[in-house]
Amino acid sequence: MVQGAHMKANHPTSFTRLAAFIIFAATIIRGSAQVSTNSVLSLVRTNGATLSLNISNSGDQVWVIQSSSNLTNWTTVETLKVYNGSYHRSYTNGGGGNLFYRAFFNGTNQSITDTTTTALGLPATSYNYASPVLPADFLVNPVLAEDNTPANDATTDAGATLGRVLFYDRRLSTNQTISCASCHQQAYAFSDPRQFSTGFNGSLGTRNAMGLSNARWYQRKHFFWDERANTLEDQTLMPIQNPIEMGMTLGTLTNRLAAEPFYTNLFAVAFGSPGITTNRISQALAQFVRSIVTTQSRYDIGVTNNFANFTTQENLGRQLFFGQTGNPPPTCAVCHASDNFVPTTTLNNNGLEYPYVDLGVGGITGVTSQDGLFKVPSLRNIALTAPYMHDGRFTNLAQVVAFYNSGVVSGPNLSPPLIGPGGTPLRLNLSASQQAALVAFLNTLTDTNLATNAQLSDPFNYGN
Ligand code: HEC
Ligand code: HEC
Repeated sequence: MVQGAHMKANHPTSFTRLAAFIIFAATIIRGSAQVSTNSVLSLVRTNGATLSLNISNSGDQVWVIQSSSNLTNWTTVETLKVYNGSYHRSYTNGGGGNLFYRAFFNGTNQSITDTTTTALGLPATSYNYASPVLPADFLVNPVLAEDNTPANDATTDAGATLGRVLFYDRRLSTNQTISCASCHQQAYAFSDPRQFSTGFNGSLGTRNAMGLSNARWYQRKHFFWDERANTLEDQTLMPIQNPIEMGMTLGTLTNRLAAEPFYTNLFAVAFGSPGITTNRISQALAQFVRSIVTTQSRYDIGVTNNFANFTTQENLGRQLFFGQTGNPPPTCAVCHASDNFVPTTTLNNNGLEYPYVDLGVGGITGVTSQDGLFKVPSLRNIALTAPYMHDGRFTNLAQVVAFYNSGVVSGPNLSPPLIGPGGTPLRLNLSASQQAALVAFLNTLTDTNLATNAQLSDPFNYGN
């Protein structure tokens, strides 16, 4: 038995003792053959009456939590399995102010099995993913035509629920350290605040992870900056097998999921039989990604009231964005079109650089006239998804607007809307206050509900 940390909840001097115990515990744990080498245990008093316990290890191991008022007689508070690599919980000091706590790993007691109830905090009645309430502008063209849901993978409540669990499950990476949500973080509208994401073994990718807001509405149906995934169903299996990102083989994945009883149940409810196949994994993940729906921004309210809710500055920014009469040429909305701010058919080069460092679409197709072309990402929740562009070169929206105002560079594949008179790159010549207005408009596309919506959040009981 490896002893963990002690803590006397209400006793000021116990704090030093606690720190000593944690160091001791971590040393012993690292030396143990049964607990993963990167296990970390911390038991910290958060205030006079509350203890915060954090355990992380990349296995699904069983730990015992005990309390004592005299450091001699210990009572088991609970025996828990650290699902999905991490466990966070607070304990209150119910013993009249004199309780010590300890947590330890017991190698002989590893038989607790996962069930949906113990591993996951799913609601008794499923959330509604199948029929989100959509505003009127989503039910007519052009947005209606942008819906890329295929006939054979309509979103169901049970399918998206399974997809949600998979999206947050670190079992999808080879060493069980990262999930989709490690790089697509809800607080950042499912993007990565880091310029380049870190994969399972610490390696960096070369592109910024885009947000996933309203991925359901993209008429070209292709995914990734270079559109190399033909469908969202194809896309979802690619990060899992990517050697930098998650480094898994699909055979290992299906076997690993099959070893968790709760997955058998989730697959059975979602697909009518318990079989765990890669096709079903890709479909469920795609259903969850299509459930990342955002329709409650100030812009959405504005669509219904002729933008009476906008400030003067935001309305000026809107006019600049859509290029209404009396303003500079229609620029932004030519490419960031419709109420999802995506084009219907085109791929584009927006003049970030020449020569092209990243060939984008041309790097996939080998067609020179497609070098430097990239998917035009939706601008929904753009204020939450910094940094910007495929290489995350801009850290804020003011920099993006300044770039479009005066920084677009020529190149053989620069898209026509950004070519000015005489073939030179377009210069918007916006004043500082006009640029600020454009940024203010972009900020109206934020739907803070998305960043906290429970039905899109981590379902594992003990945090991620
Ligand atoms: C290690 C970080 C990382 C992990 C893990 C990861 N992604 Fe991504 N994701 C990215 C990056 C980076 C991109 C952009 C890559 C590119 O375009 O080449 C991306 C792009 C995407 C896109 C394309 C969005 C669009 O509009 O075209 C989707 C969808 C997506 N990821 C879903 C997922 C899902 C589902 C998982 C889990 C199975 C996942 N990702 C795991 C980093 C990650
Ligand atoms: C010719 C088409 C085109 C026009 C016009 C255009 N954009 Fe873009 N926009 C793109 C493309 C393509 C990208 C992605 C480029 C890349 O990363 O290589 C992009 C990226 C962006 C991004 C970063 C998105 C992200 O997720 O990182 C923002 C913000 C943006 N544009 C805002 C604007 C604004 C504001 C305007 C008007 C001033 C505008 N765009 C005009 C094509 C266009």
